[in-house]
Amino acid sequence: MNRKITISPSLLACDFLCLEDEISSAVEAGADVFHADVMDGVYVPNISFGFDIIKKIKSISAIPVDAHLMIKKPYSYIDVLAAAGVESVTVHTDFDEPSIVRDTLERIKKAGMKAGIALRPKFSASAAEEYLDVCDMLLCMTVEPGFGGQKFMSDMLSKISDLRRMADGENRFVSVQVDGGISPSTIRLCSEAGADNFVIGTAFFGAENRKSACAELRRLAESR
Ligand code: DX5
Ligand code: ZN
Repeated sequence: MNRKITISPSLLACDFLCLEDEISSAVEAGADVFHADVMDGVYVPNISFGFDIIKKIKSISAIPVDAHLMIKKPYSYIDVLAAAGVESVTVHTDFDEPSIVRDTLERIKKAGMKAGIALRPKFSASAAEEYLDVCDMLLCMTVEPGFGGQKFMSDMLSKISDLRRMADGENRFVSVQVDGGISPSTIRLCSEAGADNFVIGTAFFGAENRKSACAELRRLAESR
């Protein structure tokens, strides 16, 4: 099957002093979706930015915004994200007990957004299975969540394939995302393993020429 490849620059790696310019530059370079990492310093040992910033990003973004919530209480913010016009929201399998994770995913869907479930490296694909029916996206973290610029964990590749198999078993399109350490040297392996959506922070915003970097990343992902 020919999967459509999408490239999602992670705004965590952009220059926040020039956010508006960074957003236009990324769109100009060929970004498909913006990935917005929200961290609360509790679920992960770092704090990034909050929902007012996402609202601002959304208000000037020409492409969809995907919110990756690395926070303990995501359910309180689903309606805020929907009101801002965010297209998709991902939460982690372990931010709370399973019934609350499911309620949160259902709330995301009810609010009209796509829902995603994310797996930290220590969890296998089966941890996402019970949520598959309410998910449009399965996110395989290929680093420990919390920071950009970390080294890709190649032992996650088999999990990507497991998630792809799960996604392909559905009678609808379910995206398999990868996030963490995605670069020209790792993107093809992830694509071969079955990923279709690539979250890229450092290798996108840190590139000397973002347009050619984005084109090269896409080419590598498509060449599997
Ligand atoms: C890490 C975040 C990532 C991060 C990726 O917790 O979820 O989205 O920005 O950054 P790179 O591509 O630099 O690993
Ligand atoms: Zn992320």
